[in-house]
Amino acid sequence: MRIYIDTANIADIERIITKFPVDGVTTNPSLLAREKINPMEQLKKIRNLLDEDMELHAQVLSDNASDMIAEADYMRKHLGEQTFIKIPVTHEGIRAMKELNKTGVNMTATAIYTPMQAVMAAKAGAKWTAPYVNRLDMIGANGVQVAIDIHTILTRMKEKTDLLAASFKNVEQILKLAEAGVGAVTVAPELLEQLLYHPLTNQAVIDFKNDFESITAKGATMKDL
Ligand code: E4P
Repeated sequence: MRIYIDTANIADIERIITKFPVDGVTTNPSLLAREKINPMEQLKKIRNLLDEDMELHAQVLSDNASDMIAEADYMRKHLGEQTFIKIPVTHEGIRAMKELNKTGVNMTATAIYTPMQAVMAAKAGAKWTAPYVNRLDMIGANGVQVAIDIHTILTRMKEKTDLLAASFKNVEQILKLAEAGVGAVTVAPELLEQLLYHPLTNQAVIDFKNDFESITAKGATMKDL
């Protein structure tokens, strides 16, 4: 399963990519707005932080297909041709995807709440489909189940499209999707850091250290022997 960082914050990205094996960064206009600087300049900074093989996902704002296509071209010109252009699954969004697919543009279909929206995005050529797991839970639906249903359908369709599930609020939601074998998740930095948390792990490290020091010296490591 690929793991992306869902943020537009430079400090968070620097911290996470240094210590965790992640595959890229996903942003959206709301995340960029939180940074309170020119969003395109921020996206360029993010791109510069990432290794070449790490993906950057950035969203269009236009309302109609032809403007979305022009916006996608502009974004790819400034952020690199490999940039994944996020396009919402509106009528105009699907129309834009269909057109952009002809020239092999990397696309992530976003704002997905139903499996049928994901099917249409797959048929229009999106590489990734992004269902909003926690936002579905918030409206009384089962976000994890919707994501699993999309994964099952896309696998059966044998399209090149996979799932990049988004909007998580707890580790359990992510674990369930890992069990189901989804292609990717994008996770906010605070939650990403929680993926490793268990108090007994920390205690085990303390116990090992104390035992080792009892026959060596305080702060000793293998290098001191
Ligand atoms: C990703 O495409 C979404 O923009 C994002 O993950 C939504 O997350 P949120 O529901 O926490 O805002």
